[in-house]
Amino acid sequence: MDDNPVPNVAGARARLLSADASGVGEAATLLRAGRLVAFPTETVYGLGADATSAAAVSGIFEAKGRPADNPLIVHVADIDEVFRVAATITPLARELAEQWWPGPLTLVLPARPDLPRVTTGGLDSVGVRVPAHPVALELLKVADLPLAAPSANRSGRPSPTTAHHVLSDLGDVISAVLDGGATRIGVESTVVDARGERPVVLREGGVTREQLGLAAPAGETNAAVADTAASPGTRYRHYSPNVPVVVAAAGRGLKVALDAAAGGVFVGLVGTEPAADDDGIATLATFGNAEDLAAVLYDALRRAEMVGVELVVVEGVAEAGVGRAVMDRLRRAAAG
Ligand code: TXA
Ligand code: MG
Repeated sequence: MDDNPVPNVAGARARLLSADASGVGEAATLLRAGRLVAFPTETVYGLGADATSAAAVSGIFEAKGRPADNPLIVHVADIDEVFRVAATITPLARELAEQWWPGPLTLVLPARPDLPRVTTGGLDSVGVRVPAHPVALELLKVADLPLAAPSANRSGRPSPTTAHHVLSDLGDVISAVLDGGATRIGVESTVVDARGERPVVLREGGVTREQLGLAAPAGETNAAVADTAASPGTRYRHYSPNVPVVVAAAGRGLKVALDAAAGGVFVGLVGTEPAADDDGIATLATFGNAEDLAAVLYDALRRAEMVGVELVVVEGVAEAGVGRAVMDRLRRAAAG
């Protein structure tokens, strides 16, 4: 056990636990004692706490500096466990869960009356998902708790895709991180309101509108913009490194970076083409498609800070498939 008896007190140093049976066992013990433990999912690392304990969940808000009205996603081991936090599962939710769980889809359902309202940000609904990561699933099974887990970053920062990212944001205020390596998808889950007859996308993410049969026909406005007001988290500043970000048009990343570098700015580039050695540009990551960009984006934004660039140029991708989620996050990062 951690020697600090009080969770979330500055000065504690999180333990890095390996994702084997003993690490998962220790993480589960800590969670059952009301502590905060970060764990990997297929999307990003989550900062976990017992979703049924108001005290434990309050610790998440304190550790992240998260606004109290921004609800948390609760992770459960399988569809039957939804009833530990949700009052009902609608036919629509059951259908979506059967198709996409375990996976990067969060379903908003009516909350159980006894679920602490600190978990739901004061709402009578709860977002719930079954993550598709063997370490997360094992932890949920061994801890035998529904785990509230927002992305394990300080509020406003890029989401963490490695255990190191978690430690650099929260190492002083949480008990432990389970190290499952880099996450596969790299952007967060899709949040869908599943209380009605038709799914309403509240946040774009790993399960795409195309996969949900909700993509707008070409030429028509996507409903996403109108829908987002319903997801409290989308109101806040998000995903921002401490370096300004600009988004270049698809295919124009290197060109935009070269222009900025010619003006004497030390530029970091995330694009489809790397800069040459003598361009004076730090190529932070290259990618081939939207999935690749999703997987490297948050890490590249964090590395931009370490390299000390003055501006990050990220080349955009088409707003289709996971490209919608990536462009949503990029616009927020660029809005600073
Ligand atoms: O992939 C993910 O979703 C990651 C991993 C750890 O599961 N988690 C994550 O959590 O991204 P977080 O807290 O960073 O984002 C949760 C989003 C927020 O936009 C929040 O407002 C929305 O989900 N949300 C949660 N519960 C909700 C509810 N009851 N109604 C509407 N939106 C909800
Ligand atoms: Mg987040």
